[in-house]
Amino acid sequence: MSDVFVSSDPGTAPRELRDVVTVRDKLTQGYHDAVLEKVFRPSWFLIGNANELPKPGSFFVRDIPTFRTSVLVKRGKDGVIRSFHNVCRHRGKKVVPTECGWAEGTSSSHTCWFHGWSYSADGSLRSVPDENQFFSMDKAKNGLVPVRTEVWAGLIFVYFGGEDGVGLTEWLGELADGFEGYYTEMEKIGTFSADVRANWNIAMDSFSEGYHTIFLHRRTQPKLVGKDNPMRHAPLIDVYDRHVRVGTPANSEYLGPPAERALYAHGRKLSPAVETDFSLLPPAVNRTRFQPWFFDIVGHFPNVSILNGPHWYSVVTVWPIDRENTRLHFDLYARKTRHAGDRLAQAYTRGLQYTVAREDLSAMEDVQRGLDSGAIDSINLSLQEFSLQNRYAIIDELIGAR
Ligand code: FES
Ligand SMILES: [Fe+2]
Repeated sequence: MSDVFVSSDPGTAPRELRDVVTVRDKLTQGYHDAVLEKVFRPSWFLIGNANELPKPGSFFVRDIPTFRTSVLVKRGKDGVIRSFHNVCRHRGKKVVPTECGWAEGTSSSHTCWFHGWSYSADGSLRSVPDENQFFSMDKAKNGLVPVRTEVWAGLIFVYFGGEDGVGLTEWLGELADGFEGYYTEMEKIGTFSADVRANWNIAMDSFSEGYHTIFLHRRTQPKLVGKDNPMRHAPLIDVYDRHVRVGTPANSEYLGPPAERALYAHGRKLSPAVETDFSLLPPAVNRTRFQPWFFDIVGHFPNVSILNGPHWYSVVTVWPIDRENTRLHFDLYARKTRHAGDRLAQAYTRGLQYTVAREDLSAMEDVQRGLDSGAIDSINLSLQEFSLQNRYAIIDELIGAR
């Protein structure tokens, strides 16, 4: 079935890739420390969709264990989206409390619950109880500490590497064009998080290939594979300098169970339905207009996989907590609803996608245990796992291990 590939010639990759990747060295504390400073610190991270902040004062907070911080992302009175460390300038408490690493809402200001210091929507320090008892404190210099933030095509990105690092457009490279009007049409319809006892690479690997579908998801998604392409060989693999785009095929004979067919007949055809009308898609989504197409996996180096579907997209974000523990966020988005039928279709796909994601989670800790055993030194990656080969190669390059 290798003829299914249309853009996966290993010779087109920007670096020499290896299908046998040593892993023993990648599980050491020294390697992990180097990855945090040389890979994660100077990277841009997708953190949300601008539609999650619909009006002035809208905010969300996300704890980021990799940088031991919590980030408040907020739309100001002027409509501008800014991000701040969610850390009070008085004595350091988290200003907006989080539950399971997350919070959201709308508020013109934020008051720290400890001693009542209050911050405006633009992050400036607004009021301090007993202000005249702080003799040297300069209010103007004690706003929330900003985090560099940019919005691209409706998506919000943050950067923890300082003001001098690479700009977002340059960072996105080949992915910077062709998505206009796609993310801006989508609204968030679900989110959940999980901590797993596995290295972050193991988590990323699971959401970067379709090779496992016929086996790991055989119970929840048995009909995703058809006779024409049982191993879900990718119709497209673009390997760029940092990022990747992998087209994943649908089963042309897929019909879905009766309930799913009824829901998707009255609402939008969400996952796992096969959509053949590509008229709403921008050029960068299913860029070869392949049929039968399911979705693209767009790997935003180093820690995000976006699954771009015809009327939906989902984001898997992987944050290393430490060398062998990882936090995963799953965020699901769909085109804005037109009527109740679309709402029902959203509810159906949300339940199904979470069930499938839990199967992915279940394999990760077993892989970690297998590697911990020391029984194997390396892993073997196929052509379908080309994007994994690329990520391991880039990381080795960045930390000087190759
Ligand atoms: S730590 Fe926030 S007001 Fe004291
Ligand atoms: Fe999976």
